[in-house]
Amino acid sequence: MGSAAQATKDREFTLTSSDFAFIVKLVYERAGIVLGDHKRDMVYTRLARRLRSLGIESFKAYIELINGPQGDDELGPLINAITTNHTKFFREAHHFSHFRNEVLKPFAKAFRQGKQKGLRVWSAGCSSGEEPYSLAMVVAASLPKREAEKVRILATDLDTNILETAKRGVYPANGMAEVPEAIRRRSVSIDPKRETATMGDNLKSLIVFKQLNLLKPWPHKGPLDVIFCRNVMIYFDPETRRSLIQRYAGLLRPGGYLYIGHSESLLGQTDLFETEASTTYKRLP
Ligand SMILES: C[S@@+](CC[C@H](N)C(=O)[O-])C[C@H]1O[C@@H](n2cnc3c(N)ncnc32)[C@H](O)[C@@H]1O
Repeated sequence: MGSAAQATKDREFTLTSSDFAFIVKLVYERAGIVLGDHKRDMVYTRLARRLRSLGIESFKAYIELINGPQGDDELGPLINAITTNHTKFFREAHHFSHFRNEVLKPFAKAFRQGKQKGLRVWSAGCSSGEEPYSLAMVVAASLPKREAEKVRILATDLDTNILETAKRGVYPANGMAEVPEAIRRRSVSIDPKRETATMGDNLKSLIVFKQLNLLKPWPHKGPLDVIFCRNVMIYFDPETRRSLIQRYAGLLRPGGYLYIGHSESLLGQTDLFETEASTTYKRLP
């Protein structure tokens, strides 16, 4: 027995090296997510939950299910179990200040002058919705209603479960800690008894949530004004990241902005974007 298989032999289910390799390959092919050896425990824990709920007694049997006639139906739940959905409101707050000052303010001016009709924003890999709701909160707090209504936020994720949470728009109230009070008061109702924070209809009406695999063709057409794709590419290999960055560049209008996560980079694709601020890039003409 290999040492990795040894490591899991005392557990409820045995995850052999070849079971793990099968899952790694499948997740890479379907979602682009790279699972290194150090993710073995994470894969075990998340999928063990799935095995239990299906009443399956081993990883071997689970893989047989995936390879069997009903296998395609299991791919969604498998990927949902593997994705990491960590997020929060106003994560990397400097992006939201930049969005207000450099995107919304110029848009409001251009709108009043009749030079721009609307603003299109994409939150790619939106997880449970905190990112697009934070964007919508800034819109609602910074623009008069007439102009705010012209902002469209498309929010997409691969994970269908997490999108349900996003659409519901109800969060633990303590998640509001990072939300500036003046912004929160306009758009979020707090229920102190249940300790929940419910996103207002003024926010929901700005956002369209959709399931989308970033690796597949994208149904929406450009030009877009803004793309937030933060803390998503970190799970992909350099080749996938490079291709995504090129596709984002193809969708953004010249002068549009791409915001990425704090530990991500554009992999030196400086012919497409100029650096505007930390992890904030402007599409070159
Ligand atoms: C860590 S969350 C980032 C959430 C948010 N953007 C933020 O920065 O707080 C990463 C999200 O990427 C999604 N994701 C992973 N692979 C994806 C793919 N191939 N297509 C679309 N979304 C994907 C996951 O489901 C997860 O919700």
